[in-house]
Amino acid sequence: MCGIVGAAAQRNVTKILVEGLKRLEYRGYDSAGIAVLSNGELALRKALGKVAELEAKCIANPVKGQLGIAHTRWATHGKPSETNAHPHYSDHIAVVHNGIIENHAALRADLKSKGYEFYSETDTEVVAHLIHSLYELTGSLREALRQAVDAFDGAYALGVMSTRQPDTIVCARSGSPLVVGVGIDENFIASDQLALRQVTDRFIFLEEGDFAEITTSAVSIFTVDGTPVERDIQQLTDAEESADKGEYRHYMLKEIHEQTKVLNNTLQGRVSKTAVLEEAFGTEAKAIFDQVESVQILACGTSYHAGMIAKYWFEDWAGIPCAVEVASEFRYRKTVVRPNTLFVSVSQSGETADTLAALRDSSGYLASLTICNVANSSLVRESDLCLMTLAGPEIGVASTKAFTTQLVALQLLVIALGRRHGLSSDKEAELVTGLHQLPDLCAAVLGLDEDIQTMSEAFSEKNHSLFLGRGVQYPVALEGALKLKEISYIHAEAYPAGELKHGPLALVDSDMPVVAVAPNDELLEKLKSNLEEVQARGGKLFVFADQRSGFENDDSTTLLNLPHVPLNIAPIIYTLPLQLLSYHVAVLKGTDVDQPRNLAKSVTVE
Ligand code: M6R
Repeated sequence: MCGIVGAAAQRNVTKILVEGLKRLEYRGYDSAGIAVLSNGELALRKALGKVAELEAKCIANPVKGQLGIAHTRWATHGKPSETNAHPHYSDHIAVVHNGIIENHAALRADLKSKGYEFYSETDTEVVAHLIHSLYELTGSLREALRQAVDAFDGAYALGVMSTRQPDTIVCARSGSPLVVGVGIDENFIASDQLALRQVTDRFIFLEEGDFAEITTSAVSIFTVDGTPVERDIQQLTDAEESADKGEYRHYMLKEIHEQTKVLNNTLQGRVSKTAVLEEAFGTEAKAIFDQVESVQILACGTSYHAGMIAKYWFEDWAGIPCAVEVASEFRYRKTVVRPNTLFVSVSQSGETADTLAALRDSSGYLASLTICNVANSSLVRESDLCLMTLAGPEIGVASTKAFTTQLVALQLLVIALGRRHGLSSDKEAELVTGLHQLPDLCAAVLGLDEDIQTMSEAFSEKNHSLFLGRGVQYPVALEGALKLKEISYIHAEAYPAGELKHGPLALVDSDMPVVAVAPNDELLEKLKSNLEEVQARGGKLFVFADQRSGFENDDSTTLLNLPHVPLNIAPIIYTLPLQLLSYHVAVLKGTDVDQPRNLAKSVTVE
């Protein structure tokens, strides 16, 4: 998704801007650009493709100045091209924008009627011209921005500069994140604090509707109606934000292997030997939890799969009714809210536009709780309660460690609420004892990497694949299929294995790899019957099974035996080989593993 960086300094800002954009590359983008105030003029450089292309242009045709804004664009309005890349300008004004201006067509028509000419297909150019027209009336960049955003429907994080106020960047946010980085005699803006970690560790996280004006010597913040407001400066530690590949070839592989550690981090301090420590949910949690009678989970993509797994747990162990829905659907339909329902959002980034919109539309719920990996994100700030997943920054677009830590966090929530609905202390002790085994079992399964790499060779030339699971393993199969399609571009579909005979069996032949997730659970024998249906049609099975499940390697079955695991952690453990499988297939296919085509890490637009 798009990224913003801006800097006001007493030194040349070009390198700071380009380095900031590089740090945002993981979010996914298709073009990049910068605008620097150079000798009283706006100097623009833009490039299609990677930030390295932009950097090369800035070296070939140097640009120097002490004030600048920069952007990585992920196309929404108009194809990826240099013309559509940001910054966009209108005479003396330059603008970078994340989000979508939904009423851009009407604004464009109005501005055209006033004589403005458009060179791009973007909604952002409307922003530049509108601010320009308002600057002519007000003579103030901040006031022009404030009046402009009044006219916008949609979401935005905006960074704006003008040659007429050569020491100032103004910015605003609504629906898209924006932070101010506070330096010494220099200040910055960015859509993600990671972009600025090379220049500062002090940040102000702007709130919904905030405006800010930054110069080298001051940061001033205003609420939506223009009233000055103080926002806390937060100091981040390096441990919270380390983001390099280390010894690994890709971030995704690094993040898969980090799971041994981060699953443990997510448990630390939140469980005793045999019980969940409810204080982890915050001081206000008890009063809320005491009233919860049902749960509504909202999420997107991988986080939605985590929610689906939690539904099995809520209803099986805790007897608590639980509904799960993708946020993009939920937000646009009329829903019936049962009394005392807890609204639970699950998100790695905490900025997913659909999930955030669902939260903002969650009236009628008892309270909201988010399970999130990014402190200070919008979901965290706007929810009543939160439980952080302690996965550390996840850079690979394909979510791995965020997913498994979400499952740990959700299981803690199931137990905390379940206690109030008859989940016995014996059952709680059994579940928590299982959770404590995660790091060792995780390490053991990641140790099977070479076997999985060998298995991946059977997939790299295929165009299609099926993933099967039963019960709580069905969402695990869904997640395995999503990973494979995201990074290897192989079409992968997941089914509950019992559904096979109702249609998908027609797809099965010797060219269709069929992956099965087979822990030693109460549905194992049912699953085996379904897999026999595949074998009878000449299908090739790739089975991830408990060593006690009784599968064997043969002509039609490639088996990966996993250690025996407690059933409450099986969805977490069985996800790991599926992550490794998709990783190795993608490497064999030579795709861009960490930044797969067309996808973004943080989906801040609808
Ligand atoms: O940041 P979130 O967890 O809210 O993101 C939701 C999805 O966009 C995300 O899980 C997406 O599906 C990933 N690319 C999956 O690997």
